[in-house]
Amino acid sequence: MSHKIALNFEDGVTRFIDANPSETVADAAYRQGINIPLDCRDGACGTCKCFAESGEYDLGQEYIEDALSEEEADQGYVLTCQMRAQSDCVVRVPASSDVCKTQQATYQAAISEVRQLSNSTISLSIQGEALNHLTFLPGQYVNLQVPGSEQTRAYSFSSLQKDGRVSFLIRNVPGGLMSSFLTELAKVGDSMNLAGPLGSFYLRTIKRPLLLLAGGTGLAPFTAMLDTIAQKGSEHPLHLIYGVTNDFDLVEMDRLNDFAARIPNFTFSACVANPASSHPHKGYVTQHIAPTHLNGGDVDIYLCGPPPMVEAVSQYIREQGIEPANFYYEKFAASAA
Ligand code: FES
Repeated sequence: MSHKIALNFEDGVTRFIDANPSETVADAAYRQGINIPLDCRDGACGTCKCFAESGEYDLGQEYIEDALSEEEADQGYVLTCQMRAQSDCVVRVPASSDVCKTQQATYQAAISEVRQLSNSTISLSIQGEALNHLTFLPGQYVNLQVPGSEQTRAYSFSSLQKDGRVSFLIRNVPGGLMSSFLTELAKVGDSMNLAGPLGSFYLRTIKRPLLLLAGGTGLAPFTAMLDTIAQKGSEHPLHLIYGVTNDFDLVEMDRLNDFAARIPNFTFSACVANPASSHPHKGYVTQHIAPTHLNGGDVDIYLCGPPPMVEAVSQYIREQGIEPANFYYEKFAASAA
């Protein structure tokens, strides 16, 4: 049985390859047209050194300490000319996709649904035979080409791929190119091109409690992550705080309630920043982070929101004197016309 290996390149491109337990990851990549930098192929030079972020694997017996020290191996570094996968793995390659003679994958699909969830948020689903081959890490994004133009916009997947269908949460930006297309022109069946997956904001192996912080349509990567967690489960507590500006920006609440019912360790709260809001929880996400959520620093924090929110949360955590085990974030800004 072969395993799926996600190769994350330093320019944000991710490519997935299949690797048999009997072949090295470097050989599997080469067989599928991806050249991870290699020199000796014997575990002597260290040129093929990468970082395995998750998965089970055999490091190999043949390499020497100069190429990979015991300390590096303990940290998760691997020599891909020796490494054999024993499960699906995520491997960070310290080279660009271009250097490795690959690039982001492209797909064509058709619009299967456009739903205006509120004045500010649109749900877009696309579907197509080609998307059956689309694999991504939950939390990643793609570049969607705006039909009728050469321009692309980056959107995180808000769902997993199922039956060749994926979904996105899109902020309705007045006058925005994609927003105008979706609200004025889009029809079911319209063709759309996408390229990806991309990005280093994705769910890692859950080793401790998680605090998930979403701002506006920054909720999208978290619903994809929660879809994954609902399938695999988690022995650690997970708490999501979802902050928006106005009451009408709050979307997907039924879906979040559904996750809370399906994932035993998952809780969430929402808050609205506008002081005129009628929501029971007002203010910014930082006002709703409790000491228990930070767990004395033994927590992995994931944050997706606009740049000021990322800055505010970073500052808040510093002020608490907490250094989280890991802090992953994705900043996004809506594109205008
Ligand atoms: Fe030399 Fe792998 S290519 S150690």
